[in-house]
Amino acid sequence: MTSVSAIGIHDLSFATSEFVLPHTALADHNGTEIGKYHLGIGQQSMSITAADEDIVTLGAAAAAPIIARHGTDQIRTVVFATESSIDQAKSAGVYVHSLLGLPSAARVVELKQACYGATAALQFAIGLVHRDPTQRVLVIASDVSKYELDSPGEATQGAAAVAMLVAADPALVRIEEPSGVFTADVMDFWRPNYRDAALVDGQESITAYLQAVEGSWKDYTEQGGRALDEFAAFCYHQPFTKMAYKAHTHLLNTCGYDTDKDAIARAIGQTTAYNAVVGNSYTAAVYLGLAALLDQADDLTDQAVAFLSYGSGSVAEFFAGTVVPGYREHLRTEANSEAIARRRPVDYAGYRELHEQTFPTDGGDHPTPEQTTGPFRLAGIRAHKRVYQVR
Ligand code: HMG
Repeated sequence: MTSVSAIGIHDLSFATSEFVLPHTALADHNGTEIGKYHLGIGQQSMSITAADEDIVTLGAAAAAPIIARHGTDQIRTVVFATESSIDQAKSAGVYVHSLLGLPSAARVVELKQACYGATAALQFAIGLVHRDPTQRVLVIASDVSKYELDSPGEATQGAAAVAMLVAADPALVRIEEPSGVFTADVMDFWRPNYRDAALVDGQESITAYLQAVEGSWKDYTEQGGRALDEFAAFCYHQPFTKMAYKAHTHLLNTCGYDTDKDAIARAIGQTTAYNAVVGNSYTAAVYLGLAALLDQADDLTDQAVAFLSYGSGSVAEFFAGTVVPGYREHLRTEANSEAIARRRPVDYAGYRELHEQTFPTDGGDHPTPEQTTGPFRLAGIRAHKRVYQVR
């Protein structure tokens, strides 16, 4: 067995929900000037899950095209990153493993640290592939972001899953060493086990994010990372797309660079296209940014891309990737556009009904209405067990 230095993202696919709520509908309901949503936070619409969708159906839908293209043979590990977990014990990844017919000779686990979880999953996957380069790891980041109705956070909801196949000699992006890492115990955003919707101190969360950008960048440079001007683009965690602009401006200020608006737009503009219409997809958000960048940018071959992954609470990581020659042949640009375009608009009343939907906890038989047109659905809950179907 030989060790290889080039390990990274071999394939990337994403899925989002059945429904979409335009921010104009939210603004009409709560009397907010639409400029606050479109310009102030940089959001156009947000993905809303159907009654029969959840992190499992989204995660399976994101991963299915990867399995269709590459098969299952070399996948011995599935890491499912989420902060909208559906069970305190069982990994959501085990349901996905079953829905996709993955081999029983596999380990499956769920990881959590707010929106940072997928980056932990990616790094752990790289470690496993280093140990045995013949193996591949399926990383799935899947989340449904939910805040209280009529709260400031409501405009920053969303839902999506990203699946990545991590492998030696990757076809898309080689992930580099070193990483800059940062942890600080802050209560900017959290969700106690008894709550569906997150609790958040909005302004505190923005400050904590910016401190984490600074802290992880400082560590990245101390570990011998690249200079800032070597990067062709920057993929930030995007709870709302304006946050990427705030983060990049802060990083440039920290490093003593000019904060020229056009240069900032060139560095991050293309990473925001999917997040602006999907909303916050928590663990998936930074990799949705990567998908948008790869799909839209002119040739990025051999160029360095920076990643800043932030998860409230808080943990952050700054790291780099290099785009691999020939990457464009492996992109899923059309499918990605289709995942966004296929969503059906829901009106405000319909969104509110979906937001308030909860399952009874009495152990009875509770089927869900058939709403999703996606490949997998949550058929209901029976005797406290979630029942999934391939459609
Ligand atoms: P808010 O208090 O409703 O909004 O909350 P605001 O008053 O701060 O206004 C937002 C921006 O709109 C401001 O711009 C206004 O000036 C502008 P800024 O000063 O920030 O540049 N504005 C307008 N612009 C144009 N035309 C207008 C107009 N009116 C106002 N007419 C907040 C906003 C984001 C705080 C809220 O939505 C929230 O609490 N969201 C959830 C928390 C969040 O997303 N935090 C981000 C950092 S933490 C993070 O990223 C982690 C997270 O993903 C969770 C995890 O890790 O698991 C959240």
